[in-house]
Amino acid sequence: MKASRRKFLTSISMLAAATAMPINQFNFGSKEKLKIALVGTGIRGITFWGKRLVDEYADILEFVGLCDINPGRLAYGLEYTGAKCTTYTDFQKMIKEAKPNLVIVTTKDSNHHQFIIKALEMGCDVLTEKPLTTDEVKCEAILQAEKKSGKNLIVGFNYRWSPYNTKIKELLANKTIGKLTSVDFHWYLNTYHGASYFRRWHGQMESSGSLWVHKATHHFDLLNWWINSEPAEVFAFGDLEFYGKNSDFRGENCRNCTHQR
Ligand SMILES: NC(=O)c1ccc[n+]([C@@H]2O[C@H](COP(=O)([O-])OP(=O)(O)OC[C@H]3O[C@@H](n4cnc5c(N)ncnc54)[C@H](O)[C@@H]3O)[C@@H](O)[C@H]2O)c1
Repeated sequence: MKASRRKFLTSISMLAAATAMPINQFNFGSKEKLKIALVGTGIRGITFWGKRLVDEYADILEFVGLCDINPGRLAYGLEYTGAKCTTYTDFQKMIKEAKPNLVIVTTKDSNHHQFIIKALEMGCDVLTEKPLTTDEVKCEAILQAEKKSGKNLIVGFNYRWSPYNTKIKELLANKTIGKLTSVDFHWYLNTYHGASYFRRWHGQMESSGSLWVHKATHHFDLLNWWINSEPAEVFAFGDLEFYGKNSDFRGENCRNCTHQR
């Protein structure tokens, strides 16, 4: 097996590691190149899933379509990634014409479900960025669509791949510290990283379901994966004390902000 195929399979297997789904159900191991279409040519779409796959895995996969509602981002994304494919502003048209095996969803969180469900219905496997979606109604609709389609759906919880996180999983699985009885888990966002969310749609409840969903979904995933568990009950409380409209350290937008420097 070529090194890039092995590396790609390993990283994708890590994503699927906590699901019951056998990884070989995806077409990743096939001799044919995997045909990929991506919707949402924003920062995550064109960097992590776009240029990286084009640069590192061109011998095992190819992009057959890129889609976004923003034609400027689409044109930039095509050039930046180096993908040799057609661009679309109509998602369904892309799936019909480009016939991908796998659809990668990197739009904003609140509309992941539209593309996941449509792609499954149209016979594609789907890899979506986290979070799967932003509320339980959309979540249920996705699960039903997955069941009905018989296709595979995977969520890109990449925190699992950090070498130290993978090592922790290994140590826990090997019972290196014995039997677990309880866990305390804290995750602190620094104000640089935190502020970056509140400058974009990520800080709007209706787009991201709040940082509890948008960001903490990583942390819930990591912890549940480490200890091989699923939550029985989840609740949260908090307030917006530092970011957004409650902070003096802000402007209407970056261009005219008095704190720009
Ligand atoms: N796993 C991680 O560590 C990680 C890191 C960053 C982002 N993400 C996830 O990746 C996704 C994208 O985030 P981003 O930071 O790249 O955002 P972004 O705003 O840069 O990109 C989103 C893109 O989706 C497009 N889009 C929005 N609605 C659309 C629609 N209806 N049809 C077609 N295109 C549409 C936008 O025009 C934009 O180009 C989010 O779900 C985010 O949570 C994950």
